[in-house]
Amino acid sequence: GSLFPIDKLLVITAATEQTEGYMRFLRTARYFNYTIKTLGLGEEWRGGDVARTVGGGQKVRWLKEEMAKHTEQEDLVVMFVDSYDVLLASGPVELLRKFMAFDSQVVFSAEAFCWPEWGLAERYPPVSAGKRFLNSGGFIGFAPAIHRVVQLWKYKDNDDDQLFYTRIYLDPGLREKFGLALDHKSKIFQNLNGAIDEVVLKFERNRVRARNVAYDTLPVVIHGNGPTKLQLNYLGNYIPNSWTYEGGCGVCDQGLLDLSETPEERLGRAGFREQPTPFLPQFLQRLLAWDYPYARLSLFLHNREVFHEPHVQEAWERLRGAFASIKLVGPEEELNQGEARDMGMDICRQDPDCDYYFSMDADVLLTHPGALRDLIQQNQKVIAPMVSRPRKLWSNFWGALSPEGYYARSEDYVELVQGKRIGVWNVPYISQAYLVHGETLRSELHDRSVFTMEETDPDMAFCKNVRERGIFLHIPNLEDFGHLLSIANYNTSRLHPDLWQIMENPLDWQEKYIHENYSRVLDGELVEQPCPDVYWFPVLTELACDELVEEVEHYGIWSGGRHEDARLAGGYENVPTDDIHMNQIGFEREWLHFLREFIAPVTEQLYPGYYTKVPGLRELQLGCYITLCTDPSPSRTRDRAAIPWLLHQGTRPERAPAGMGCPWGNLQLHHSVHRPQPQSLLLRPPGRLTHYHEGLPTTRGTRYIMVSFVDP
Ligand SMILES: *[C@@H]1O[C@H](CO)[C@@H](O)[C@H](O)[C@H]1NC(C)=O
Ligand SMILES: *[C@@H]1O[C@H](CO)[C@@H](O)[C@H](O)[C@H]1NC(C)=O
Ligand SMILES: *[C@@H]1O[C@H](CO)[C@@H](O)[C@H](O)[C@H]1NC(C)=O
Repeated sequence: GSLFPIDKLLVITAATEQTEGYMRFLRTARYFNYTIKTLGLGEEWRGGDVARTVGGGQKVRWLKEEMAKHTEQEDLVVMFVDSYDVLLASGPVELLRKFMAFDSQVVFSAEAFCWPEWGLAERYPPVSAGKRFLNSGGFIGFAPAIHRVVQLWKYKDNDDDQLFYTRIYLDPGLREKFGLALDHKSKIFQNLNGAIDEVVLKFERNRVRARNVAYDTLPVVIHGNGPTKLQLNYLGNYIPNSWTYEGGCGVCDQGLLDLSETPEERLGRAGFREQPTPFLPQFLQRLLAWDYPYARLSLFLHNREVFHEPHVQEAWERLRGAFASIKLVGPEEELNQGEARDMGMDICRQDPDCDYYFSMDADVLLTHPGALRDLIQQNQKVIAPMVSRPRKLWSNFWGALSPEGYYARSEDYVELVQGKRIGVWNVPYISQAYLVHGETLRSELHDRSVFTMEETDPDMAFCKNVRERGIFLHIPNLEDFGHLLSIANYNTSRLHPDLWQIMENPLDWQEKYIHENYSRVLDGELVEQPCPDVYWFPVLTELACDELVEEVEHYGIWSGGRHEDARLAGGYENVPTDDIHMNQIGFEREWLHFLREFIAPVTEQLYPGYYTKVPGLRELQLGCYITLCTDPSPSRTRDRAAIPWLLHQGTRPERAPAGMGCPWGNLQLHHSVHRPQPQSLLLRPPGRLTHYHEGLPTTRGTRYIMVSFVDP
């Protein structure tokens, strides 16, 4: 039994619409078991544009009508608070205890600004510490006292409520008569305007409080008044309980949408490409990998890059076969980014059957097949899957805005990107991939130009428009949705620019170019040993071999030569070869990186203890090239993908006593490797070269060999 009868507490608020802010307020109120009464729901708001100017009188009129019902209840405590921009941070017991401690009839919240009439400031009684001026966004008092105060209201709905209460408070006679006080030190009410720096999050064992460090208080009501809505959103991510440390449910009290009860949701989705993007074929292929019924998906694809037209062309039939309908806007239509985004979104807006619109840029790799379902299930108006660059802090959201509306890092940004705090986060900016409720487009975001705004990036325009409608931008990190590509350093003047992405986008490079069974090599499987100390194992994909060959052929300047050292090797016939060095095609840095990342780990296993200076691969300036065996085949039709290669270890090219010709020949006389294994690597032992080889005649096509010397 508490000292204070919490059933004698009524919280009254006002809202004409059930905005997301209102729903958030209700969640916090329900969490603490407050009894809530909402005034004005469904009514037309005639209280003026309070965000920009004065107004709000309509709230006092409603309260006056409501209080008339409670005049008899001497011991009833009533708290009135706004709802759209208010959070409750603690329960009724604490609230009542703090109210009683004031020993007043009615306590109003206080703030640092004298609004709306600055001229009234000097009439306020001085305070030694704390905020001096009345704010009417929150007050608490005994029902009869509040009733007597609001009885004095006889003004218009768009007159100012705060001015009304202020005038009463500033009249010493009325202040005395009604027993009015201000909460100068935010014991109960924290107005954030002008006080953002005073309020910090305080992490307790099971919940989070907002602490006012200026007065060392733990306010019960947090009010994001004036320009502090985003700060309130930030606090609302934690208060009272909507997040968790690594793992677990961060939104347990929000209520997921039961997908089984909405079997017919239809989705429009859009893919956007604004500049050349690596790995676009993979992106298009992934569009077909969703765990979602494609019969209910329509695709709108905008491609502004001529460079990508062949990729779209190549995927077209597969996409058309999968999606219910598909619309392509190509480079010839010359739409700018904002116009194209407006166009895609409007298709969903205009179609009453379109339940959701999902927009995704081509630099988003959504690898979680259930991503769409998970996002729909969260049941939000606007929601984005959190993605970031692997092991980087670059992501598709901002945790805070600078005063000019650009990026600012929130205190929790790193924790969110790295998944150390898990939840569904309300942030000021999202981009690259997001789901928007079709109904939200038709009711609240009904203007066609959501992305086009003077001198504003389309994404920033979108977020600004959404925020200004009072809609929250959500971004969950409950799942590993995928990642973002880096699109810097993408050089489309190369034939296969993806090959060069090994450092910029390592995950995607690996997926495209590294053999699917390579990981098993690291487990000691799939390594063949045709003769002692010589190993074969799979490394590259067929595509990698094809593209490498095409790159060198594209370059086309072969330096013919017979390898002297082959002759030295001891009598075997030397092999005439044509070579192109990796530095000639500008691929040397990438190739060395590849050796370090993918070959060094294997050699360390196969030749234990030997390959310790792998990072020293730098010295290998001349060490890698593609050799073309031209003899004796006169025809140069290529043997597709047959590009096995040879890694000489422990020798310098000029000292190598063995031939650098085609590596499937006799090895140590009695051992033969006759099978050319495409995509495989033939690893020669370190140290002095003891294995001689020769090339067998090429009987068909053209033989390509990749050769690398590694200097330990
Ligand atoms: C709210 O009420 C429920 C049911 O009476 C109770 O289980 C819960 O602990 C209460 N919540 C708080 C924060 O006191
Ligand atoms: C882009 O590739 C071309 C070769 O296709 C090369 O000449 C040029 O230097 C490259 N540009 C950059 C910035 O790397
Ligand atoms: C990888 O290994 C599996 C199982 O051994 C095999 O079926 C598959 O063909 C291999 N993949 C390639 C590309 O060789």
